[in-house]
Amino acid sequence: PAVVVLASGTGSLLAAIIDATSAPNSPARITGVVVDRDCRAAELAGAAGIELRRCVVADHADRTAWDAALTDVVADLGADLVVTAGFMKILGRAFLDRFAGRIINSHPALLPSFPGAHAVRDALAHGVKVTGATVHLVDDGVDTGPILAQAPVMIDDTDDEISLHDRIKTVERVLLVQVIASFVTRAVVSEGRKVRFS
Ligand code: GRF
Repeated sequence: PAVVVLASGTGSLLAAIIDATSAPNSPARITGVVVDRDCRAAELAGAAGIELRRCVVADHADRTAWDAALTDVVADLGADLVVTAGFMKILGRAFLDRFAGRIINSHPALLPSFPGAHAVRDALAHGVKVTGATVHLVDDGVDTGPILAQAPVMIDDTDDEISLHDRIKTVERVLLVQVIASFVTRAVVSEGRKVRFS
C-alpha cells in the first residue's frame, strides 16, 4: 500500500515513518511527501529520495483552490493511506471526501483534551500531571476523528514545552508506526482474500 505523508515542520514523525517503511520487504512504501511550506521535512524527503511536492496556500486563489490542488497532488501520488505528520493546515471538504477513512493524524496530547495547534503548551499551562499522544482518523473537525491509539506521557516539574514535546514525539512515532502497520496489514489481508477467491 502507498502512504503519502503531509508535513510542515521538523519532520521527526516523517523520519520515523521513513525508517519503518524503508526495509526492502516492507509492504508499505511512502510514494510521496507533500509540504505546505519550506521545512526540514521537505529536506528530509529529498535526502531520502522520496517524491516531494509543495502545495502552498499563497500559490492559490483561496483555500478551496488550494484544497482541490492538494487533493489532486495526493491522488496523483496514488495514496492508499494519508498521514498528516505535523501538518499545520486544516484539510478541506474536497480532500476529506476523497480520502475519507484513510487519513490518520498524530496529536501531541490525549484527545479530547488539548486539541489544536498548541497542545503541549496548553497541557503545561493547565498543570496536568499526565498528557500523551493520540493517533486518530481525521474527520471534518479539528483533532476530533475516531481515536485509533493513545499512550500516556508523564509531565515532571522540570519540563518546558520543548522537553515535553520531544518526549511526546518519541511516543507519537511508536504509535504512528503501529497504526500504519495495522492499516497495511488489513490492506494486504484484504488483497490476499481477493487473490485467493479470484
Ligand atoms: C508533532 O508533535 C505533531 O503531533 C504535531 O507537530 C509535531 C510535528 O513534529 N502536530 P515533526 O514536524 O514531525 O517533528
